[in-house]
Amino acid sequence: MPARIIDGKKIAKHYRNSITEEVKQLKQKGMVPGLAVILVGENSASQTYVRMKRKTCEEMGIHSVLIQYGDQVGQNELLDKIDQLNNDSSIHGILVQLPLPEGIQTEKVIERISPDKDVDGFHPINIGRMMIGEDAFLPCTPYGILKMLQYENIDPSGKHAVIIGRSNIVGKPAGQLLLRENATVTYCHSKTENLTAYTRNADILIAAAGRAKFIHGNDIKPGAVVIDVGMNRDEAGVLCGDIDFDSAKNTAGYITPVPGGVGPMTITMLMYNTVKAARKTIENGIQ
Ligand code: GUN
Repeated sequence: MPARIIDGKKIAKHYRNSITEEVKQLKQKGMVPGLAVILVGENSASQTYVRMKRKTCEEMGIHSVLIQYGDQVGQNELLDKIDQLNNDSSIHGILVQLPLPEGIQTEKVIERISPDKDVDGFHPINIGRMMIGEDAFLPCTPYGILKMLQYENIDPSGKHAVIIGRSNIVGKPAGQLLLRENATVTYCHSKTENLTAYTRNADILIAAAGRAKFIHGNDIKPGAVVIDVGMNRDEAGVLCGDIDFDSAKNTAGYITPVPGGVGPMTITMLMYNTVKAARKTIENGIQ
């Protein structure tokens, strides 16, 4: 039986409806959630992501501000801008689109963002809080994956989750969040020997390696849940994931497509985090 397709667009719409509802409620209290997006350089994928994020803000009634720099911008100028946004009460979330140009120390920039406005969940304080199970802003892609699993009634508890990729943005936090849900987690990466020995044993397989279509149907355990975080171009220049969808769909039990899988959920959780940041300023009385 072919796999059930996990429809990221449909699931994103479901969650976006309730987030939009909360935006309306906040507006009734005189609060408009605001997101500042900093984009540095001419990376075309980054430009596309930023455009999509801002379009979603607009659709959901979230105020968004774009701050753009050429790739020659100095690190101090960026840090000063972040200081200014940290002190701006109309801005609840700050996002610095990655990657940053060479010569800028990404961790210095991220660490300058107030942890209370770190809607990407990349600040070491939020990562630490996530690790020990405290309330935190969770990184949007792994959080979106978790929400997709919940929507599909897939309980990771006791399951073997295999993550391919160990980035700070996706792989590492995805493993932590699945561990929190009582999965048994294995991390694989570019140095892993005999990768398919792991992938064939995965009840939940998360591919976040950034290599076009490199996991095939016969690398997958029959019936497995396959989540494809890849955003690549194939030989013909067509957008594709890390999973070879056409062969994998005959082995997997569930599979996310690319596009229309994880991507819409990443943006949805960014909106969720921005609204949460706004709500917290009211709760903490620091408006
Ligand atoms: N670059 C790729 N993914 C992301 C993301 O989720 N957030 C930011 N800020 N940059 C990215």
